[in-house]
Amino acid sequence: MTPLIELEEAYRSLKKDPCFKRELKGLLESFTGRPTPLYLSEKLTSYCGARVYLKREDLCHTGAHKINNALGQGLAARYTSKKRVVAETGAGQHGVACATAAALLDLECTVYMGYRDIERQSENVSRMRMLGARVEKVDTGEGTLKDAVNAAIQDWVSDPLRTYYLLGSCVGPHPYPLMVRDFQSVIGREVKKQLKGLPTHLAACVGGGSNSIGLFYPFFRESGVSMTGIEAAGAASLTRGKVGVLHGSMSYLLYGEDGQIELTSSAAPGLDYSGVGPEHSFYRDTGRAEYVRVDDKAAVDAFMWMMRNEGIIPALESSHALAWVMGRKWKKDDTVVVCLSGRGEKDLDIVRGFLEKEGNQ
Ligand SMILES: Cc1ncc(COP(=O)(O)O)c(C=O)c1O
Repeated sequence: MTPLIELEEAYRSLKKDPCFKRELKGLLESFTGRPTPLYLSEKLTSYCGARVYLKREDLCHTGAHKINNALGQGLAARYTSKKRVVAETGAGQHGVACATAAALLDLECTVYMGYRDIERQSENVSRMRMLGARVEKVDTGEGTLKDAVNAAIQDWVSDPLRTYYLLGSCVGPHPYPLMVRDFQSVIGREVKKQLKGLPTHLAACVGGGSNSIGLFYPFFRESGVSMTGIEAAGAASLTRGKVGVLHGSMSYLLYGEDGQIELTSSAAPGLDYSGVGPEHSFYRDTGRAEYVRVDDKAAVDAFMWMMRNEGIIPALESSHALAWVMGRKWKKDDTVVVCLSGRGEKDLDIVRGFLEKEGNQ
């Protein structure tokens, strides 16, 4: 608890620190390339029969929204005099973002990654290593994100004075869900400025839930804006789970009769997690957002549709949100904003393998 309490106190003062805020704003603009465009997709608009905008987080430096949080927390590590960051990663995008922030901010970096994710996201493993990070393979459990989080927490608590744990989604113990939400809220704040008027719908994929809460949170009090979080069918904690505690927070969770965390399975490594951020559980319980599931096939179909019709390679994670938007009935005057959370070059092998299996090649 001591490092968590210290982190909460440090974050509370950093939030008000004009130097911290100025430095982060500068990095988000000149290093990450913010604001990212809000792109009106004419093809999706005519396909869906509603105006569909894409919030282009895929155009962020390093290729996903994860860098928004990695820079915020990387700076927090430096302002609190830590020398080293540890992180977990599933899809590798958060690991790449951390390795990038660590290179920029002169911090040592170790990234824990499950053995299964190392196999299926090998390109991101090379990127992390070449950026100077140590990638530690986690052989326990199913070799996915949950196991990587366990290993990163163990590392952190063994050396909390020197090490900062740079968690990649709005999960884990307080204050992480709050910090990650704050750093990712830049997504929704920009959408508010970029769109003339309010959208009617927001849609984003939910793994731990950081790109979605980043889009949703600034619209929380706009009661006319409905919100949909899209989970992977094989890792649907909000739509299939029960209340439980994992990695230090109470939320919806996938676990069996005997209390063991259940195996998850999604083609999108960034969605392959048995838990979800506690704030999403609150949105679910209060009805502020609805949560739905999309399966691998629908996500791969949306991925291919985007490539062939838009010339955009969406991350498989984001393709879940796109698939839901493409499969829903819309009214002509609806305005939908979809968070295109990352780019999908990392997923080409997965999609190729999936299509070969389906005999679609
Ligand atoms: C591109 C992309 N989108 C979405 C996610 C899911 O994470 P979150 O729900 O925290 O946004 C990931 C996780 O790695 C990702 O890489």
